[in-house]
Amino acid sequence: MADPRCEHTFLAVKPDGVQGGLVVESSVVLTSNLLHNHYTELSSKIFFPGLMEYMSAGPVFAMVWEGTNVPSMGKKMLGATKPRESPTGTIQGDFAVDVGLNICHGKKIALWVNPD
Ligand code: TYD
Repeated sequence: MADPRCEHTFLAVKPDGVQGGLVVESSVVLTSNLLHNHYTELSSKIFFPGLMEYMSAGPVFAMVWEGTNVPSMGKKMLGATKPRESPTGTIQGDFAVDVGLNICHGKKIALWVNPD
């Protein structure tokens, strides 16, 4: 049986982070469909169209981490959504300037894992 403590989180270095050379290899350009599904809860926000444009502006470096507490650990490493409010020592605190160009993203996801 799957370990109930085992969680999953999606993390990505965004287009500006990839273009800024934070990763050596880039992987995927996110499709409109995927972005709409991933950011459903933000779809009524005023910044949503800009977020869609930004997130599909180029390749992102995407990951899924698996393990106990990975969503909260990932968020801690990334920092606050608004770089100004993000502590030194976090990626957004050290490398990002603006909420609309904040280099990385992390969000807990529900991923079905075959228990076999
Ligand atoms: P959100 O999921 O709240 O933040 P995070 O990516 O840190 O989990 O928001 C998603 C993205 O929406 C965020 O990375 C940048 C954009 N955004 C804005 O442009 N303006 C805002 O005021 C907020 C809250 C988010």
